[in-house]
Amino acid sequence: MRLDKFLGDHNIGTRKQIKEYVKNGRCSVNGTVISKADMRIDEDHDFICFDGKELSYSRFHYYMLYKPQGVVSATTDGRNKTVLDLLADENVRGLSPCGRLDIDTEGLLLLTDDGGLIHKLLSPKKHVDKIYEVHISKRLSDSDIKRLEEGVDIGDTNDDGTPFITLPAKIEVLNADENGREVVHLTIHEGRFHQVKRMMEAVGNEVLFLKRLSMGSLVLDDSLHPGEYRSLTENELKMLGVYKE
Ligand code: URA
Repeated sequence: MRLDKFLGDHNIGTRKQIKEYVKNGRCSVNGTVISKADMRIDEDHDFICFDGKELSYSRFHYYMLYKPQGVVSATTDGRNKTVLDLLADENVRGLSPCGRLDIDTEGLLLLTDDGGLIHKLLSPKKHVDKIYEVHISKRLSDSDIKRLEEGVDIGDTNDDGTPFITLPAKIEVLNADENGREVVHLTIHEGRFHQVKRMMEAVGNEVLFLKRLSMGSLVLDDSLHPGEYRSLTENELKMLGVYKE
């Protein structure tokens, strides 16, 4: 692969910055300082350092995307733009979205080719916390909040035919938005289809705007704009349990 792609995957900077950094002698390959960012390297065997620190190559790729509204969380779609259409072609190979956000939902979406991590984050048994910013049509009463926090029936059934009840959730009521609509942060532990919308429906409310802010330890980078993405940092990978030194 090209050195600038390798450095980009390590979140060192933009292509332009990387070119400059390499030109300034901050990168070495097998102990030799090099000056050309488009040099080809063998990522599995070469010893690559940036600012004197070794960068190891992960065979998997991990991107944080700020999914905008109007694109689908799929790899292909006959009708709509997909989240993969937002990535540069060279990054797309083998990636899948980790879970789905509705077409009209925006916010954090992890894209990766690491099936093990996808399984870990989506497994119903793991109860990974997801935090959403939710704008709703009317104010939640204390009893609505209590019901949502204790668990509500969203119309699904368990394997044994009993009603599925959502796990205890957490609601934090925030200031109203610019249109005077109630805004809450809702933390849930499952990822059922339309779960947030159906939870609000269960207490007679309606979701007007939905944004995912976090998934487990991964928090949407507030410097990203809708449609933008970046590689996960080493720290984010460590917190997700992906080993990368
Ligand atoms: N819950 C929903 O209703 N929609 C989403 O996109 C995510 C969670």
